[in-house]
Amino acid sequence: MAIVPSSTSILFTSIFISLFFTSCSQTCSNHKFTSERFFTSCKDLPYLNAHLHWIYFKSTNQSKIAFRAPHTPKGWIAWAINPYRRSMVGSQALIAFRNTKGMMSAYTTTISGYNPSMQPKKLTFHVSKLSTEYSKNEITIFAVVGPLAHGPVVNQVWQVGSLDKNGVPMMHEMGLQNLQSTNVIDFSSL
Ligand SMILES: *[C@@H]1O[C@H](CO)[C@@H](O)[C@H](O)[C@H]1NC(C)=O
Repeated sequence: MAIVPSSTSILFTSIFISLFFTSCSQTCSNHKFTSERFFTSCKDLPYLNAHLHWIYFKSTNQSKIAFRAPHTPKGWIAWAINPYRRSMVGSQALIAFRNTKGMMSAYTTTISGYNPSMQPKKLTFHVSKLSTEYSKNEITIFAVVGPLAHGPVVNQVWQVGSLDKNGVPMMHEMGLQNLQSTNVIDFSSL
């Protein structure tokens, strides 16, 4: 007997996938931050069920951001700007996860190759007010990035992955969503 998925099983699979994604993520428009977390703009990112909120300060080329992504048990999330190209290598990243003591931890790191150390490193641009929160199966990274030397249009890269048993971030999976999670963002757009 040939193993061909029936149209019914495809239908149920796609219903399951859409239920899964709608139940574990809120879109931009219905997400509420507390009053001191104010952002003018937001985009639902096309992969990994992630969202980026921001407010851009034109006079200083700085962007205040909140990056949200689902937290897998023992997982990390990261958001990055790549000043060089639209890909992972060269990314200047903000990473966050729950450490082995159960506390949230966030720091900056650079992705210099395909097997990066993920250890704390300084980025090519200034980062301030870096913090992270965990709530409702989601991690959020907050930060102010910039001045951005080339203005508001940047390559962004985002990613999620797992921690090893010592709580150290491991390489992400090589699924389609993990490999496509990059695009260009214009912080000056609403
Ligand atoms: C801000 O961005 C513009 C490009 O939009 C650039 O010409 C300028 O040098 C940048 N200013 C600073 C302070 O980074």
